Amino acid sequence: MALRNIMTEGEPCLGKHCRPVTSFDERLHTLLDDMAETLRRSDGVGLAAPQVGILRRAVLVLETNVPEGEEDYIIELINPEIIERSGSQTEPEGCLSVPGVYGMVERPDYVKVRAQNRDGETFEVEGTGLTARCFCHELDHLEGILFTEKAEHILSDEELDEYYNSKHGED
Ligand code: NI
Repeated sequence: MALRNIMTEGEPCLGKHCRPVTSFDERLHTLLDDMAETLRRSDGVGLAAPQVGILRRAVLVLETNVPEGEEDYIIELINPEIIERSGSQTEPEGCLSVPGVYGMVERPDYVKVRAQNRDGETFEVEGTGLTARCFCHELDHLEGILFTEKAEHILSDEELDEYYNSKHGED
């Protein structure tokens, strides 16, 4: 496995529509393995192929809604599409391609995604809360859309601190 460079805002590859994956071969597996290592190192919750300069419909989402004591795990989604959505949440959102910037973005609270795995088999997966947000955010990358285009408001450092302090207070 190898780390890949994460492209940042302004790189043309982040604004492009990505093509479907058609070959579920060693090259795809290497890409996914590299993306997983890159995601783990960067402490993010999701990564899309265009963020590492590959204009193909492949994303990773970190499932963090796991039972106490269990490890987060990465879901690989090839040629994903959202087939169900419900509810609404508006929370701060960030992106490894837009470092240091957080904005309030409205997303569904629940989504169901249909995708293929690395061997081309179709499956469905559900996500709620942060995971639903992450599915939506990563799928947007495949259309060349960054969260900054959808944010209702970009947070100042003070607002971000306030937000997390108030959240922490609720726990
Ligand atoms: Ni992103």
